[in-house]
Amino acid sequence: QTTEHITVEWRGRVGIITLNRPHALNALNLALGAEVVAAAAAMDTDPSIGAIVLTGSEKAFAAGADIKEMAGRSYADVIREDFFSVWDRFAAVRTPTIAAVSGYALGGGCEVAMMCDLLIAAENARFGQPEITLGTMPGIGGTQRLARAVGKAKAMDLVLTGRMMDAEEAERAGLVSRIVTTDTLLDETLAIAEKIASMSLPAAYAAKEAVAHAHESTLAAGVQFERRTFHATFALADRAEGMAAFVEKRPPTFTHA
Ligand code: HXC
Repeated sequence: QTTEHITVEWRGRVGIITLNRPHALNALNLALGAEVVAAAAAMDTDPSIGAIVLTGSEKAFAAGADIKEMAGRSYADVIREDFFSVWDRFAAVRTPTIAAVSGYALGGGCEVAMMCDLLIAAENARFGQPEITLGTMPGIGGTQRLARAVGKAKAMDLVLTGRMMDAEEAERAGLVSRIVTTDTLLDETLAIAEKIASMSLPAAYAAKEAVAHAHESTLAAGVQFERRTFHATFALADRAEGMAAFVEKRPPTFTHA
């Protein structure tokens, strides 16, 4: 299925959203954002989808918000539109999400990649928040998610200088889950997505929510949230099946219930 700026594919239990504005290095205009959010929402409400992959082209995951679309806007425009808040709905997806990043992930591109639960980088990936070079600053969560992912030292370095970091540095800093060769990026990411999608979906929701909670709470409150969420998984048929399968030395059959 192809819309104007993305292609969307349901492959088994994995949903794949591919950014497809090659002439602008997948720059995120508002129409593209709305298409991604709609596709992700459709997948998120479909229990036959257990993982969502967001990717771009080999040259660019996304080279940022669309500067040409932004350039003419006034303060009154952006505050009235709550400019770029559309992406909050992508960050709120409950199904596990994976960004498969090849080439440039800059500005809004880096910010959207950081909204995903896992970030798989090709060897040629380049991450950065170059908004400062345009006289502005990150506005789709970059200052918050980058600081939480890599700490203050590197977040300040990237946000204040606008420089790019390569895949190795991004992995060392804790931004990236894994690095793979550029030509195997999609295959490797799909293998990870299929693995995640083969698990109990309600257990994955619970696990994802608990890990995400680590950024929202004190340690004591987070541990308490985790314990109660863990207890809640004992209401799942999949939890009984998973443990019974282990005891009986057979693979589990999850029904996502
Ligand atoms: C609009 C863009 C774009 C962008 C690239 N293009 N990035 N158009 N918005 N963010 C367009 C170029 O204008 C050009 O179009 C075509 O894509 C190819 O780009 P080139 O620059 O010719 O390619 P290259 O020389 O390979 O350089 C790649 C690049 C460079 C280093 C990634 O394009 C670049 O610096 N882009 C801008 C990166 C950036 O500043 N991103 C942050 C945006 S601000 P034509 O028509 O000339 O062929 C942001 C704010 C988020 O993200 C918060 C908002 C609330």
